[in-house]
Amino acid sequence: MADLAKEMFLRSLAEPFKTKVVETVRLPDRADRTRLLAEAFYSPAYMNSADVCIDLVTDSGTGAMSDEQWSALMRGDEAYVRSRSFLAFESTVQEVCGFRHVIPTHQGRAAENIVMELLLKPGDIVLSNTHFDTTKAHVEHRGATAIDLVCDRLWRFQEPHPFKGNVDLERLELALKRYHDRVRLIVVTVLNNMACSSPVSMENIRETRSLAKQYDIPLFLDACRFAENAYFIKARETGYETKSIPDIVSEMMSYADGCWMSAKKDALVNIGGFIATNDQDFARRCQEKLVLYEGFYTYGGLARRDLEAIAVGLREGTDEDYLAHRTSLVAYLGDRMEEAGLVVSKPTGGSGVFVDVQALYPHLGPEKLPGIALFSDFYIEGGIRVGAAPFSMLTLSSQGEIAERIFQFARFAIPRRVYGKAHMDYVAEVARVVKAKASLSAGYRLVEKPLVLGHFFAKFAPRG
Ligand code: F0G
Repeated sequence: MADLAKEMFLRSLAEPFKTKVVETVRLPDRADRTRLLAEAFYSPAYMNSADVCIDLVTDSGTGAMSDEQWSALMRGDEAYVRSRSFLAFESTVQEVCGFRHVIPTHQGRAAENIVMELLLKPGDIVLSNTHFDTTKAHVEHRGATAIDLVCDRLWRFQEPHPFKGNVDLERLELALKRYHDRVRLIVVTVLNNMACSSPVSMENIRETRSLAKQYDIPLFLDACRFAENAYFIKARETGYETKSIPDIVSEMMSYADGCWMSAKKDALVNIGGFIATNDQDFARRCQEKLVLYEGFYTYGGLARRDLEAIAVGLREGTDEDYLAHRTSLVAYLGDRMEEAGLVVSKPTGGSGVFVDVQALYPHLGPEKLPGIALFSDFYIEGGIRVGAAPFSMLTLSSQGEIAERIFQFARFAIPRRVYGKAHMDYVAEVARVVKAKASLSAGYRLVEKPLVLGHFFAKFAPRG
């Protein structure tokens, strides 16, 4: 029999945790916000967090740890070699992800650096549903090309497909036929962060696996939001309704030759990551690089106490009640933002709410930087910080030609276990004000942009 209390608890978005420690948030007054925005060069990257009321710039490393995780930190065994903490971390990752060899790294991109160095040479191609921007940068750093094969429905923001993060299998096949002698790696990002944080279906991972096998190309999962992806499979994919999250995770992982993970997302920690694989020889080569770049193979650039916190966080991050609340909170903000008149990617996904920037500022062409207008307006009207940089991806045309495509969205990323429903209501109220004034914005211009990952360091100024 259905448990009404459970249904009511979930429906009301009551947090499945209670507060033990609090951090005060401060909303600077309007005159200060105007000055602080100018002092930050109209860029989220130069703004001090102390000047931000609600910080939605990322869900990465910004979550709140549990009492169990803080206790685990105290258990940290800081031995350099094979500490108790490493063994706890290793066995948890083995159990949760199902891979035998586990290589700790200080965060996701450190893992990417090692994997790409070992697998790629200049001229190679990596195929993915969508590479995260650091992943793409690491592929390119090796002189290789990162091609994104996300399905076209991603561009139709409001088309309600349950798995917009999927690999476009027809494009994958086309790419493999055309470029198979250059393709060195296939990466499935779960969930697909740059594609509005949309999930990837199990069927899609399975079919990607079978194509990878056919062409004998290794398949890795970029697994930083693997638990949220597993939850969406349970909630949205036929045949998985009654499966447990750990079982769904095991099946997802079973299709891959390995994974890497930024633990700063679904492992609910502020720092950490790992590579995991069953390939002993590859694991050994990762460990050799690890010693060079990160630290000994049993800590990989982390304090051992951090490994303890990851071990606990991996379990908490795969808890179904937690995942139900988290994904419902994202959906709640998505619905409220839509009511405020913004165009939101539907259905909402994992890391946060993705908003169509161009639809909010139809009078601002790309050269007038509508994403910066959105960031500035949310800060001025509500002290809210969001990320809204345009993202460039290389995709494949239906004829198999590689073509650049710019994707312009704003991401209202929700840190895990940090903000509640009332904060989301506030963000939506601010969105209403931003929407009402959006047509008055004259846009922005670029003042300074460095070459590598330039959007992190660019500076801007208002036009007119
Ligand atoms: N892969 C994906 C899908 C990511 O979202 C990120 C980070 C990384 C890899 C790199 O991991 O930050 O630990 O080095 N995403 C953050 C974000 C920064 O805001 O989405 P990292």
